[in-house]
Amino acid sequence: PLACVVTFGCQQNVSDSERLKGELSEMGYGLTDDINEAQFIIFNTCAVREHAEDRVYGNVGVTKALKKQNPNIIVAVCGCMAQRQSVADKIKRSYPYVDMVLGTQVQHRLPEFIYKRLSGSGRIFELELLNGEIPENVPIKRDGTFKGWLPIMYGCDNFCTYCIVPYVRGRERSRNSADIVNEVKGLALAGFKEVTLLGQNVNSYKGDGETTDFPALLRMVHDQVPELKRIRFMTSHPKDLSSGLIDAMAELPRVCKHIHLPVQSGSSRILKLMNRCYTREKYIEEVQQLRAKVPEIELTTDIIVGFPGETEADFKETLSLVEQVGYSAAYTFMYSPRKGTAAATMPDQIPDEVKHDRLERLNEVQSKVLRNGNMKYIGTYGEVLVEGCDHRSEPMAYGKLSNFKMVYFPGDDSLVGSMRNVKITGSQNNSLIGELV
Ligand code: 5AD
Ligand code: SF4
Repeated sequence: PLACVVTFGCQQNVSDSERLKGELSEMGYGLTDDINEAQFIIFNTCAVREHAEDRVYGNVGVTKALKKQNPNIIVAVCGCMAQRQSVADKIKRSYPYVDMVLGTQVQHRLPEFIYKRLSGSGRIFELELLNGEIPENVPIKRDGTFKGWLPIMYGCDNFCTYCIVPYVRGRERSRNSADIVNEVKGLALAGFKEVTLLGQNVNSYKGDGETTDFPALLRMVHDQVPELKRIRFMTSHPKDLSSGLIDAMAELPRVCKHIHLPVQSGSSRILKLMNRCYTREKYIEEVQQLRAKVPEIELTTDIIVGFPGETEADFKETLSLVEQVGYSAAYTFMYSPRKGTAAATMPDQIPDEVKHDRLERLNEVQSKVLRNGNMKYIGTYGEVLVEGCDHRSEPMAYGKLSNFKMVYFPGDDSLVGSMRNVKITGSQNNSLIGELV
């Protein structure tokens, strides 16, 4: 039988889905991307914004007709949305064709749930949160062959007032460094060139009974797996960015010169309401320290516009911060109230038109910043890990520099997965244009 895993949301979910696929493969399922031919369908969901949830409901709805044709199909919903009691209740009531709802911390038990359902049990609703344990040695079937995701910690303790993640992913817990290093070694042996260490806030990693911090982990991975060409990590919370991490980035040549450092807002007043625990000034100081020690670094960020109480003056501070920092990419979002979070009931919610207007203005400023930022690369050389090839007109290979900037250059599919030297000759939209050297 075939199984289809449909993934929404962030890299953590992509990584979780690789474990779901690993379990399904070991059970004897073949994998397909075509929902129409699958006997087992699982939606791995995201709850971070309302739009993400709406998309999931739309997709789940499609399985109603499939099950009418073939009642033996099993449909499951798992991940962040599934962990919310209100969503589980809604599915129980209004989506009777969904067989199982699995929270974020029981996915390693998927075979058990499928077995139960196939042997005639009722619908399964399992939202248990574990008490700090991390299931290790769950089988993995990775999507790629040269670039991999590798979770180093789960959960989040920060409770930013807009964010649902701490509620659905539970308390922060870190994997042991030996498990992480072993997994990285395995990837390098299998020919992987790049690994991205994942966590909601990697800077607060505390492994091995709280004795190993993130800079120490980074050094271990770097020194114990010399075959690996590139080490990336995300996400870094500005409140926990240490000089130890900045030093590690400066000293370790195979740690990529890029940091994703979500600022969320440029106004210290709004940052306080968001419970971000840093000010605009502290953030800018960190950026200056990063640039001083790692001159070739590029920064990317996340920004929310229209947080409750955000005035035009607050928003202008976000615009000026974006100009001042000079990000190479900014992922920008309109604030979306999440039931159960502190911000959802704050006064002065911002009307949609204002959010739309601010998002548009922010994106314009960021585009301008990016165009200017790209100019300095013209005429320089760099190394790209080739990710793919675009065949729209002439074949253009593409991939990223160490600093996360995307480069397109004439080249074909044979280059995918290899490291290549390029000369930058121009820029287009968000990317650089280059040629092989
Ligand atoms: N509304 C809008 N954006 C949000 N994010 C998290 N929660 C919300 C929300 N309620 C954004 C933040 C975070 C990114 C992953 O999603 O910018 O960094
Ligand atoms: Fe959400 Fe804040 Fe945790 Fe990031 S650090 S997952 S924004 S609560």
